[in-house]
Amino acid sequence: SNTPVITIDGPAGSGKGTIAQRIAKEMGWTILDSGALYRLVAFAAIQNACSFDDEVGLAEIARNLPVTFEAQDNNIVLALLDGVDVSQSIRSEKAGDAASKVAAVISVREALLQRQRDFAQLPGLVADGRDMGTVVFPNATLKIYLTASAEVRAQRRLKQLKDHELNDNLASLISDIQERDARDMNRKHSPLRPAKDAHEIDTSDLSIEEVVAKILSFYKSH
Ligand code: C5P
Repeated sequence: SNTPVITIDGPAGSGKGTIAQRIAKEMGWTILDSGALYRLVAFAAIQNACSFDDEVGLAEIARNLPVTFEAQDNNIVLALLDGVDVSQSIRSEKAGDAASKVAAVISVREALLQRQRDFAQLPGLVADGRDMGTVVFPNATLKIYLTASAEVRAQRRLKQLKDHELNDNLASLISDIQERDARDMNRKHSPLRPAKDAHEIDTSDLSIEEVVAKILSFYKSH
């Protein structure tokens, strides 16, 4: 399609979500938080007492996921499940861990594929996740792969969780995040890895503004 798409992939806490929001705001584009879809599938599965071993049940939940995203004035996007705002409930590291389990199921990924592609609408889309550049938008205009040291990523996650008043401690967060990343990188289907044509940015020692500026300059010179 002709819709410009910027993909931002990377491990947990690499800054994807924040950076994607900022880029979308600068460009006046819409945003796809693909991780929220996997978090919602896991959340709905737990609500419906569907076991994470039940691949058929999980795929059915993914296919029929009654989700709507609602953009707020402050650029925050609410996730509504059956009209109920579950944005806070899906933000915990526990929800992220559950998401990464259902995300390893191929039929779940297939069920979410077209739904994700439908987000590509003019004037443009910023899509963040794990396989945006490799699988969902292989022809994206610009592909970014963000990294950061495990320590920095855990610190960022801890701060985010505190902002949402979700308590956790740093030591357990580091090990949880490392375990989740290993699962995401080593799974058979759509593992987390940079697309061949992605620009890699290590954000460990960069401010949000610096990362945003880098991406915008890549886009201008693409
Ligand atoms: O980005 P976020 O932390 O919200 O993602 C939660 C989980 O969803 C990830 O750990 C990953 O397992 C899964 N995910 C995925 N593909 C994406 C986005 C997220 O497999 N495009």
